[in-house]
Amino acid sequence: MESVNKLADTFPGIGEAIREQTIDSLFQGVVDMCEGALMVDHDSRITWIDEKYKTLLGVDDQVIGRVVEEVIPKSLMRRVVETAKPILLDLMEFGERSFVVLRLPLKRPDGSVKGAVGFVLFDRFQYLQPIMSKFAMLRDELATAQQLLAGQRRAKYTFSQFLGTSEAVREVKRTARRAAQFDTTVLLLGETGTGKELLAHAIHNASSRADKPFVAVNLAAIPETLMESEFFGVAPGAFTGADRRGRDGKFALAEGGTLFLDEIGDMPMAVQAKLLRALQEREIEPLGSNKVIKVDVRVVAATSRDMGALLKERAFRPDLYYRLNVLPITLPPLRARIEDIQDICESLLERIAQKTFAPQRELAPSAIQAFQAYHWPGNVRELCNVLERMTALSDSPVLTADDIAMVLPGAEPPAGPVAEVSRPGDGGGSLHEVVADAERAAIAEALRRAKGVKAEAARLLGISRANLYDKLTGYGMLSR
Ligand SMILES: Nc1ncnc2c1ncn2[C@@H]1O[C@H](COP(=O)(O)OP(=O)(O)OP(=O)(O)O)[C@@H](O)[C@H]1O
Ligand SMILES: [Mg+2]
Repeated sequence: MESVNKLADTFPGIGEAIREQTIDSLFQGVVDMCEGALMVDHDSRITWIDEKYKTLLGVDDQVIGRVVEEVIPKSLMRRVVETAKPILLDLMEFGERSFVVLRLPLKRPDGSVKGAVGFVLFDRFQYLQPIMSKFAMLRDELATAQQLLAGQRRAKYTFSQFLGTSEAVREVKRTARRAAQFDTTVLLLGETGTGKELLAHAIHNASSRADKPFVAVNLAAIPETLMESEFFGVAPGAFTGADRRGRDGKFALAEGGTLFLDEIGDMPMAVQAKLLRALQEREIEPLGSNKVIKVDVRVVAATSRDMGALLKERAFRPDLYYRLNVLPITLPPLRARIEDIQDICESLLERIAQKTFAPQRELAPSAIQAFQAYHWPGNVRELCNVLERMTALSDSPVLTADDIAMVLPGAEPPAGPVAEVSRPGDGGGSLHEVVADAERAAIAEALRRAKGVKAEAARLLGISRANLYDKLTGYGMLSR
């Protein structure tokens, strides 16, 4: 068949007659398989139509020579002729019916288009309906799951949600903001409920990795036996059964983004060595694999444990501790910043009112005093809970110390000094020392990244070269 001679050219070495026979039978085979076939010339006029298509459309030979759209109004054969591009699978409507069609251009040996051929693959689209609706359902389910997953791997909080205006909180936020700008490892220290997780989210959101994943792993919640696979993943075929297809670990899931290692103090020694390697080499080895994979993640770690004590008890590797302790940020307990309590309460009461669609409650001065005198072992988390319970139990628009007594029987004046800033890790230190430690660490890291080039380190730190020199002299770091 002349119209498909171009195809025949692709079979050199076969004799002309065999080639034509092959092409003819191939074409006939396709036509037989289809529910109809038709050809048009370069003006999109019908040059040939098979019997099945004629029956399907209810037409006769009169259609030969007519423009294709006069016979099949929704035909796209003209587009195939004009663009010289096939339309491989498409749905075409004809009256009330839908056909699954395939359209190919027909070309001359010089590549110019001389027409097109169209095949109707199915004439009863409704036969495909169960498959199509199943496909649509699966596609919707996949989109929902992907959205959910992406949502879970996104950091929820920003610095503005970290409440408090005390100098201690402002300093924490200042250091954390600076940390966000660098790729340094950050270690968040502080009692339970002081906002370590909130701050980790905020650091990620303020970093250049904000649009990449934020993956949180709570080490206290993972059984020791599963920890390695959770972190580094499992290679395909490593185990029989459920994991046959392999699974990404948290490092791989956080690629390009931030990995939040919560409760790092609870990490078993055996896994610590592997984590150290991953942090040092920036590469991981999935379980059952002999290939290492490069990873690009920033690590933010947190713990409410006393790291100094863990090191002494040899429950934590010092080398890993130093790796993580590049930029430590200590979150002060609530009792050490009682001046924040009123502000935090106001914001939280506003949030509660919005959530419950109820008018916003106020705190009587007696309530604020009682709150300031309490020692808040659960810190801001406990304060949130207490306020929620009080608003649920009392209808009064102004909450008093009596309302507090109902939900917080232990609210007695605290024992011991209230203004002490606890500092897990190195057993105490003034704010000035904390800041100095953080600065030293940030400078050391910038120098490392800048390979010792001070102008570049200054640029990374966002300070002038002179300022960097002053600081290096001040910290006795110039000889390095
Ligand atoms: N400064 C703050 N401003 C607003 N909310 C806060 C603040 N600190 C803590 N919270 C709230 O308190 C709760 C506990 O915070 P978060 O989970 O960040 O604490 P954490 O330090 O990680 O505690 P843990 O050590 O128990 O895990 C959260 O609901 C958080 O939103
Ligand atoms: Mg936490």
